[in-house]
Amino acid sequence: DMMLSWQRTAFHFQPKNNWMNDPNGPLFYKGWYHFFYQYNPNGAVWGDIVWGHAVSKDLIRWTHLPLSMIADQWYDVNGVWTGSATFLVDGKIAMLYTGSTNESVQVQCLAYPANHDDPLLLDWVKYSGNPVLVPPPGIGPKDFRDPTTAWMTSTGKWRFSIGSKIHRKGIALIYDTQDFIHYEQLNVTLHGVQGTGMWECVDFYPVSTTHSDGLDTSANGPDVKHVLKASLDDDRHDYYALGNYQEETGEWVPDNPEIDVGIGIRYDYGVFYASKTFYDPIKKRRVLWGWVGEMDSEAADVKKGWASLQGFPRTVAMDTKTGINLIQWPVEEVESLRLRKQEFKDVELKPGMVAPLDIQFGASQLDIVAEFELQKEVVLNSTTFDEEFSCSESKGAAHRGALGPFGILVLSEESLIEKTPVYFYIVKAKNGTLSTFFCADQSRSSLATDVNKLIYGSYVPTLEGEKYSMRILVDHSIVESFAQGGRTVITSRIYPTKAINENAKLFLFNNATEAGIKTSLQVWQMNSANVPASKSTKGGP
Ligand code: FRU
Repeated sequence: DMMLSWQRTAFHFQPKNNWMNDPNGPLFYKGWYHFFYQYNPNGAVWGDIVWGHAVSKDLIRWTHLPLSMIADQWYDVNGVWTGSATFLVDGKIAMLYTGSTNESVQVQCLAYPANHDDPLLLDWVKYSGNPVLVPPPGIGPKDFRDPTTAWMTSTGKWRFSIGSKIHRKGIALIYDTQDFIHYEQLNVTLHGVQGTGMWECVDFYPVSTTHSDGLDTSANGPDVKHVLKASLDDDRHDYYALGNYQEETGEWVPDNPEIDVGIGIRYDYGVFYASKTFYDPIKKRRVLWGWVGEMDSEAADVKKGWASLQGFPRTVAMDTKTGINLIQWPVEEVESLRLRKQEFKDVELKPGMVAPLDIQFGASQLDIVAEFELQKEVVLNSTTFDEEFSCSESKGAAHRGALGPFGILVLSEESLIEKTPVYFYIVKAKNGTLSTFFCADQSRSSLATDVNKLIYGSYVPTLEGEKYSMRILVDHSIVESFAQGGRTVITSRIYPTKAINENAKLFLFNNATEAGIKTSLQVWQMNSANVPASKSTKGGP
């Protein structure tokens, strides 16, 4: 249905058609970034899962390749599920993935490139002795999936984790291996948290506490913390925590038990799931991929013949300024897509004002960088206190406080009948302390009735003297919003009926009742990296 073709993106990863979910085994090999993903070659809904495959020189412009693994063995005939890549000492690649067997038991399988001289890694061989791991005693046959990238211990063994649960406790099982064929389960778990349910797509990696370069997955030492991430099957969000990894025992302990995995902070407060990182040795960075599903109806997906995007790849590093969260930021290659730029300086908006931005191009493919300042005296003198706030429980951008909301209306129709506010809301407590919230309000994003209209968002750490800043990538049906340099991130899927292509506009707004704002922003029109949709819904990716 070409009516919906505007929903396809210009610079987000998506196959030509059909269903996609988790990122799998991302890696860099002989000059190419490789991206594998959960894919249904037969339709736009989940099922018949195999591995799609694409390569890129810059993480942006992708060449789609034939399926890398199909469901052709008894141990993965019900699905070639999620897995991760490990670089062995000799530079070869071991791919561990979950197979769903002919009896729907979750088992771990080994695959490797048929020809390591092929930079495109077109052919994959499944190890003849598969499966290499079956659910251990006490673990349900359907609660054993998604092996991580392995890291090397100081004794020279490889170690990795597999997500599971025991009753309502989400856990990360841990295994050692020397050859990826024989495995030994440790008698502890890497970690577990009561009440969080099944942990899917566990990710585990080191971050430096002193700089923002990425670290190889096996790195460890005094200036290193470890991030543990789990995707909660129950609430469909990716939660991470920073902590300390004790190699001798194989256990990881969160820095703050109150922001533990599954009960604390999320990578993203919108749609973002089953994520996975990899280390890019060329640019010395850790790159995060995450699956961004649809928020319209399944019927609409079937009609348009495809479903899901991947979030724009993000570098991820510890926030050395706060020490308590990660920083996520679009990979720098995104700048190669920037075309025309428009700049707006020191635009002042009184309380209650909305101002159109005179953008000379359709505001449907944008990179926006914006800074906001609130009137200092008003912030200091305001006696309107607001102890509790939550984006999702508020009335969204229509909720008026003394010091917010203020921000940008993206994917807006000219007369504002469709609009998606991305904004800050500042809470002043009785004792004078300020806290900052970052939200995205989808309640009026579309006239359509079969789409998600939630309000997303969370707290964002803001340090003394910092301006409020946001970066927004707008790409037709996806909006990725980064606050305070990437401390809090929100990904939205947006399905306007009118604010599309050339008819998408941009506005500034200040819905605060007391404080005026001053804003400066840069807006780039973004080039297209993707090829148009194919009309067929059958066939390869
Ligand atoms: C997460 C997940 C994984 C599983 C895969 C199946 O979205 O459910 O746990 O391996 O997707 O497609």
